[in-house]
Amino acid sequence: MKVRKAVIPAAGLGTRFLPATKAMAKEMLPIVDKPTIQFIVEEALKSGIEDILIVTGKAKRSIEDHFDANLELETNLKEKHKDELLKLVEETTDINLHFVRQKHPLGLGHAVLQAKAFVGNEPFVVMLGDDLMEDDVPLTKQLMLDYENTHASTIAVMEVPEEETHKYGIINPGEEVAKGLYNVKNFVEKPKPGEAPSNLAIIGRYLLTPEIFSVLEEQEPGAGGEIQLTDAIDTLNKTQRVFAHDFKGTRYDVGDKFGFMKTSIEYGLKHPEVQENLKEYIIQLGQKLATEQASTSKEEEIELS
Ligand code: UTP
Repeated sequence: MKVRKAVIPAAGLGTRFLPATKAMAKEMLPIVDKPTIQFIVEEALKSGIEDILIVTGKAKRSIEDHFDANLELETNLKEKHKDELLKLVEETTDINLHFVRQKHPLGLGHAVLQAKAFVGNEPFVVMLGDDLMEDDVPLTKQLMLDYENTHASTIAVMEVPEEETHKYGIINPGEEVAKGLYNVKNFVEKPKPGEAPSNLAIIGRYLLTPEIFSVLEEQEPGAGGEIQLTDAIDTLNKTQRVFAHDFKGTRYDVGDKFGFMKTSIEYGLKHPEVQENLKEYIIQLGQKLATEQASTSKEEEIELS
């Protein structure tokens, strides 16, 4: 069966970005001038996904409004002949999107469960707004191509430094059935330091079979007291094969402050409107910081002698 549907969970509390996320979804924070969730929607469309469901929480309105028409703004831009801006605004309104509410943020697994009626009895993808992925072929498309051969759930993973494994869902890879495709033995959510079965971490793209929903319905809370998608996938793996796809492209982690700032700078350096000025600014800032660093080291040397 063809994969046609995507689910984008965007109902988390986004506590790492407070106070910005008090009234606004984390997924609406912009990288330069585009909300992160729009990058995710674009990846879905580029991959050939036809129907997208966004799971929203308390900050539902900003996401719905972003993808809705804004007649006042459009009329204003038309009158002022700001055609380029008008095109940008209209681009976000022509997409086939659906919304469902997760009433309480009980965890990623619980957010995905809210998509049960939308998905029905089809394979589907889950795409997290925390992770921006770049590669020649979009990662979601890569998973869809795997599915054509395996007809099984396939989860995107990536190598992470060993000291960071405790922050992720980690796989015990099992047999490598094709290049970079593992028939996974088991999954562990946020393993304690030293207990990770590998350094292959689950990143924010999943292709899942619909059987995941009956597992999620029974899923007890796990790490952090949340209903974890990783735990449900581990249970699913006991009744049907689940594969992991080792992603070799670039992942931008926008879920924490430093990752978000680095991504903004790197995307800024590719943005036609600001790239030149930003590059010049970074070079000057680098020189200033290097001079400051050198004079602090000199002062410390003098104090020591
Ligand atoms: P995170 O754990 O990264 O997001 O969940 P969070 O909980 O919003 O952020 P922090 O840790 O408090 O800063 C991964 C994704 O799953 C969604 C989030 O919106 C995010 O895109 N999510 C998480 C839900 O939709 N519902 C939940 O109950 C939990």
